[in-house]
Amino acid sequence: MAVTASLLRVPVDGAELAVEVRGYGTPVLFIHGFPFDHALWRHQLAALTRSRRIAPDLRGAGASSAPDPPDGYSMARYADDLVAVLDALDVKQAIVCGLSMGGYILFELLRRHADRVRAAILCNTKAGADSPEAKRGRDELAALAQKEGARAVADALLPKALACATFVAHPDVVAEVKAMMLRAPVPGIVGALRAMRDRPDSTPLLEAIRIPVLVVAGDDDQITPAAGMQEMARAIPGAQFALIAGAGHVTPLEQPIVASEALAAFLGRLR
Ligand code: MLT
Repeated sequence: MAVTASLLRVPVDGAELAVEVRGYGTPVLFIHGFPFDHALWRHQLAALTRSRRIAPDLRGAGASSAPDPPDGYSMARYADDLVAVLDALDVKQAIVCGLSMGGYILFELLRRHADRVRAAILCNTKAGADSPEAKRGRDELAALAQKEGARAVADALLPKALACATFVAHPDVVAEVKAMMLRAPVPGIVGALRAMRDRPDSTPLLEAIRIPVLVVAGDDDQITPAAGMQEMARAIPGAQFALIAGAGHVTPLEQPIVASEALAAFLGRLR
C-alpha cells in the first residue's frame, strides 16, 4: 500500500491545529512536550509504519495558531483539542503516546475522555502536580519569555533537557532541540507554563488505569528522573517499563532507534 502523509489544519475551540497524519492501521496519537512541537516525534512517525500516526502541534506550538492572551490554555483545553482532532479524523479510539507535558495531557484525556484511549505510552513524564516552588518557577519563566522571548527560555531549559552523552556525541540533536525551542511562539510558551502550573495531581489516577500502559524513561533524564518513572510504572496495574540508555528528557530524538523499537514492540503486542 502506498505511504500517505498529510498535513491537515483542524479547527478547534478558539484555535486551529496543524496535524501530521501518516499511514494506515491502528491509530496512534503522539502528544509532544514543552516547549516542543510535533517534530519531536519525527523518527517515530517515519518508523512505525504499521500504525496510522497522528501528530498534532498543540495550540501555541509549531505551526498551530497561538491564541493570545494565554489564559485560555489548560490541560483540559489541550485534551479537548485532541479529541476534536480525533473527531475530525473519524477516529473513535487511539493509542496515545505523550512525552512530559504530553503525558500530563494524556492523564487529562484519561480523566475526561477515557473511552477515546485504547492504550497509553508515557514517555519522560510524571504524575505529580507542581510544588509551590515549581509553580513560582513557572511564573518566573513565563515572565522571562514575555520580556526576552523564546531564546531566553531555550537558554534556561536546554542544559537540563538532554543527556550528557547527547551534548558530547550528538551536536546535531542538540541543535535540533534548540531550534524547536527557539521557534516556540511566546503566547504558547506562557500558556503552557500556566497550564502546567495549574495541572492537577494525577497520582490518584494511576492505580485506576485499566488499559495497557508502557512507561518509557531516559536513564539520564534530569527533569523526570528514571527512578520516579519506574515508581509511577509500579503504581499502574500491569504497566511495562522501558529504560533507554543514553537518553535525557527528549528520548525520541536522543535515542530514536531504541525508542522506536520499544514503541513498536508495545504496539505489536496490542495487535
Ligand atoms: C516538557 O518537556 O513537557 C516539560 O519539561 C514538562 C515540565 O516542565 O513539567
